[in-house]
Amino acid sequence: MKKYILLLLGSFLLASVAYAADSQIWGEMRVENILAYGKEGSLKLGSLFTMLQSNYFAKIFLAILVGVPSVFLLHYLVIGPKVFSHDGKKIYAFNIFHRIVHQIAAISFIVLVPTGFIMTFGSTFGGGEFVRMMKDLHGLATVTFAIVVIPMFLMWLKNMLPTFDDIKWMMIVGGYLSKVKRPVPAGKFNAGQKAWYWFATLGGMVMILTGAIMYFMDFNIPMINEVTGLSQIDLLRASAILHAVVGFVIVALFFTHIYMAVFAIKGAIHSIITGYKEEEEVKILHSSWYKKLKKEGKV
Ligand code: HEM
Repeated sequence: MKKYILLLLGSFLLASVAYAADSQIWGEMRVENILAYGKEGSLKLGSLFTMLQSNYFAKIFLAILVGVPSVFLLHYLVIGPKVFSHDGKKIYAFNIFHRIVHQIAAISFIVLVPTGFIMTFGSTFGGGEFVRMMKDLHGLATVTFAIVVIPMFLMWLKNMLPTFDDIKWMMIVGGYLSKVKRPVPAGKFNAGQKAWYWFATLGGMVMILTGAIMYFMDFNIPMINEVTGLSQIDLLRASAILHAVVGFVIVALFFTHIYMAVFAIKGAIHSIITGYKEEEEVKILHSSWYKKLKKEGKV
């Protein structure tokens, strides 16, 4: 626990330093960079970026925002939620550290997604002060997410490694296409949850990095250019493209995550508040983990 707290503090310090490194510090380099913006970089991303930005990004984002919840609404109406008894025994699944880290990530995302959306549709929202405020909020929520992303990656890493259960789980789509409550092959986390974990943590780190590159446009540190072999303008365009593409996947999976936690498995959300999961839910949806706990005499 002590090492986790140290890690959390370390992440906080790092993120704060990055945020505090206001563009002022890089002021002198700004002039050089602005001069370079008009130039074509070695990657020749200029036309690709303009084409994606003006024709596709906003449309894809809108399609995800409307399409993903619509699919889940259909699932809810046709198949319905999985309801497990909340009066039976409970299994302790998430300790206080897991819960705090997760809750900070959840609050960060609740801010990141709508503010990102408003920035994408900045002109529709009238631009100006309001959109600028959203941009600042987006930056702040990035800092809180950056504080917890590494602890989250480490605390669940062991449970998120692939197993044979994952293949079996995928073959039956986790049992979510059926109304019947049949034991589903999965350990503490199923294949769907593992996919979310990898995208949320590694993808999240890509989002932080590419976001930071765009935020600190003057971040023209020669070492970065040497290591990546990219010029400043290339780095910016590549970051903008990656931030959008990875962002689409993360937003779609985030909606899926909320649907699962809040609607599809009734009452599942309690586990991130209290740390406890319903025994019946674990028995059905995480049958391999349940068998293991039983063998160890923990249930
Ligand atoms: C409002 C937002 C959120 C809610 C309501 C929520 C809810 C939950 C719940 C109930 C679980 C336990 C699921 C189970 O084991 O049965 C869970 C697990 C998890 N959450 Fe969240 N969460 C939210 C946001 C986030 C965010 C922003 C991230 C990461 C960036 C995240 C990452 C995870 C991961 C990796 C797990 C473990 C694997 C999984 O269950 O999917 N969650 N969440």
